[in-house]
Amino acid sequence: MAHSPLDEPREAAADLPTQDAVSQAATDAGSALGPSDTPSSKRARRSVPNGAPQLEALPQGPRWSRDTLRLPAGCPCDLDVGFGRGGSLRHWVEQRAETGDRALLAVEIKHGCAAAVHAWAAARQATHVSVFQGDVLTLLRHRADDLRFERIFVHFPDPWWKARHAKRQVLRDATLPSFWAALQPGGHLYLQTDVEDRARTFIALAGALPGASVSQPEHNPYPSVSNREVRATQDGLPIYRVDVAKSAA
Ligand SMILES: C[S@@+](CC[C@H](N)C(=O)[O-])C[C@H]1O[C@@H](n2cnc3c(N)ncnc32)[C@H](O)[C@@H]1O
Repeated sequence: MAHSPLDEPREAAADLPTQDAVSQAATDAGSALGPSDTPSSKRARRSVPNGAPQLEALPQGPRWSRDTLRLPAGCPCDLDVGFGRGGSLRHWVEQRAETGDRALLAVEIKHGCAAAVHAWAAARQATHVSVFQGDVLTLLRHRADDLRFERIFVHFPDPWWKARHAKRQVLRDATLPSFWAALQPGGHLYLQTDVEDRARTFIALAGALPGASVSQPEHNPYPSVSNREVRATQDGLPIYRVDVAKSAA
């Protein structure tokens, strides 16, 4: 197993950065999703240029398919969960050598962030990318059979420290089966976090999934680098990386 900060005793990061908003510069093609801070997702929403294509909420309906989510058929598809300011999506789009034959579904619950990132993707005519505002857990519950992912990226999900907020966590024992079912055989579920306890809990839960093989890569092996990841690296904070591979059979 690769080296991981989880192998080293250290204190959990207590003072986590909380910036979730999209850059005010969302109108600026070059820096829309850069690592600069902005105060709120409301401000991000105001920054969406006039005439930008309308952001859609996840469609209503009994089942959400590739078709209803405007994802091309017949190619591998990745899922970006809670992209926040969208650095992970921007990086994915820019890594065409790796992602060229793929599609990406990106889902963010905050409207302001989703709207600005959607505008950014539309301005680049990134037709292989579908950006939706909504709750990824609802999406997974109402997923059609054809909607399965080769890679699911969960970068720095909210820690939700208080016990009464635990049910808001994206990755927990009650939700993990939905993520696992949405992963195609041979696929990967990838978590990055700066919260050691969350990573440890995830490793324990993921290890019990059928056909799961858990590793802790030292570096992010995917073309999806999030804003929080960039910030944590700059600040010298530990990043706990957990990759869960689903057996191909
Ligand atoms: C701490 S931020 C990290 C943002 C980004 N992934 C990064 O690493 O920079 C967590 C993000 O997940 C989003 N989020 C939380 N719960 C969600 C859910 N159920 N569905 C979609 N997005 C969610 C939040 O709105 C927030 O933007």
